[in-house]
Amino acid sequence: MSPTLRALVAVEAGEPADVLRLESRPVPAPGAGQALMRVSATPIHASDLHVLRGRYGFSLDFPAVGGHMECVGRVTALGPDTAGPEVGERVVFAAIPAVPGGHAVGTWQEYLVADTRRLLPVPDRLSDFSACQLAVNPLTALLLVTRELDAEPGEWLLQTAAGSTVGRLIIQLCRHLGVRTINVVRRRDAVEEIKAFGGDAVICTEDEDLSRRVAEIAGPAGVRKAVDCVAGPVGAQVSQALAPGGEVVVYGALSTHRQTDPAALTIPLQARSVIYETKTVRGFWLNRWFGIASPEDALRALSQVRRLVADEVLSIPQGRPFPLERFAEAVAFAETPAHGTKPLFVLRDDQANEDM
Ligand SMILES: NC(=O)c1ccc[n+]([C@@H]2O[C@H](COP(=O)([O-])OP(=O)(O)OC[C@H]3O[C@@H](n4cnc5c(N)ncnc54)[C@H](OP(=O)(O)O)[C@@H]3O)[C@@H](O)[C@H]2O)c1
Repeated sequence: MSPTLRALVAVEAGEPADVLRLESRPVPAPGAGQALMRVSATPIHASDLHVLRGRYGFSLDFPAVGGHMECVGRVTALGPDTAGPEVGERVVFAAIPAVPGGHAVGTWQEYLVADTRRLLPVPDRLSDFSACQLAVNPLTALLLVTRELDAEPGEWLLQTAAGSTVGRLIIQLCRHLGVRTINVVRRRDAVEEIKAFGGDAVICTEDEDLSRRVAEIAGPAGVRKAVDCVAGPVGAQVSQALAPGGEVVVYGALSTHRQTDPAALTIPLQARSVIYETKTVRGFWLNRWFGIASPEDALRALSQVRRLVADEVLSIPQGRPFPLERFAEAVAFAETPAHGTKPLFVLRDDQANEDM
C-alpha cells in the first residue's frame, strides 16, 4: 500500500471552517528540481483565510490544500538529478505563489513537494514555531523598511497596526537601523505595550487625532515615510498626516478584514493633499515581489532575514499550536480581536497532537 498523508483540503471557496475537510492523500514523489518535505509547523495567516474565501489576489482550483504562505520541516527525499538541501536537513519553505503565474502549493498537510529554490536551511536553535513564520512577515518587514522606503537612520517611519506581527518586526528592525517609529494602534491598552516593546512614539486611534499627534511628535519637518496595513479611513489619515512629498506603502487592509463588503475596500484620500502636497500612495504585495525577484535575490533576502532572526535582531512571536483536526478552533482564534499570538498548525505524531 502506498504511504498516505493527512491534509486540510478546502472543497470549494467559502467560510474556512465550513469548507475545510481533513483528508488522506497519497504522499507525492518529487520531480526534477524538487524535494519532498515532511512539514512540522505552518502558520494560519489572515491571507490564508482570504484565499479560502476566494477574496485574495490569486485564485485556487478547488479542491485545494489550504495554507499558501510558508512552513518548516525536513527534506525526506530529492527528485532525480536534484541538488540543494540534503535529505534530513531542516528547511523553511517560502510557498508564497509568485504573481503572475506562480504555482500554489498548500502547506496545511504532512508532506509536500517543493521547488528546491524556495527552500532555506534553518539552524536547529530556531524553534519550529519561529522558523515556520520566517518567510512572510519578517521578509515583508525587511523589504518595506529597506527596499520599498529605504528608511535612513534618524528618519521617522509612521506605521499602522503596530501591534501586528509585521508591526513588531518593523519596530525591531527600525531600532536596529536607527530609524525612529511612530506607531498607530487601535486600543488604548496596546499603547504601553508598544512603547515597552521599543516603539519611539505611539498614537491610539481610539481617542487621539492621528494627524495632530503626528505633527506634535515629528515637529515642523514632519514625517515623509509610512507603511499602512489598515487601509480605509485610517490609511487615508496616514497619507493626510505625511509631510509634502511623503509616501505611504499600503500592504494590507485590516479595516475591511473579512472583506464582506467589496465597496468598503477603499482608501478615501484627500485629493487636495495628494495633489498639492505631491504625495504617493502605492502598494506592496510579497507575491508580486516573488514574481519579479530572481530566485537568487529572493533566497538572498530570505537569508538576510534568517541572519537577523538568528542574531536576535528580530524575534518572531512563538505562536499558538493547534493540531490539524482542530482547524475550526484555529481559524476562529486567528480572527478573534486582540488574540495576540498567531495560530500555527503543528504536525507531530498523534500522541503529541493529543497533548496540544
Ligand atoms: N502585502 C503583503 O505582501 C503582506 C505580507 C505580510 C502581511 N501582510 C498583511 O499585514 C497585515 C498584518 O499581518 P500580521 O500577520 O502581522 O497580523 P497579526 O499578527 O495577525 O496581527 C493583526 C493586528 O492587526 C490589528 N488589527 C486588526 N484589525 C484592525 C483594524 N481594523 N484596525 C487596526 N488594527 C487592526 C490587531 O489589533 P488588536 O491587537 O487590537 O486586535 C493586531 O495587532 C495583514 O493585513 C496581512 O495580510 C501583507
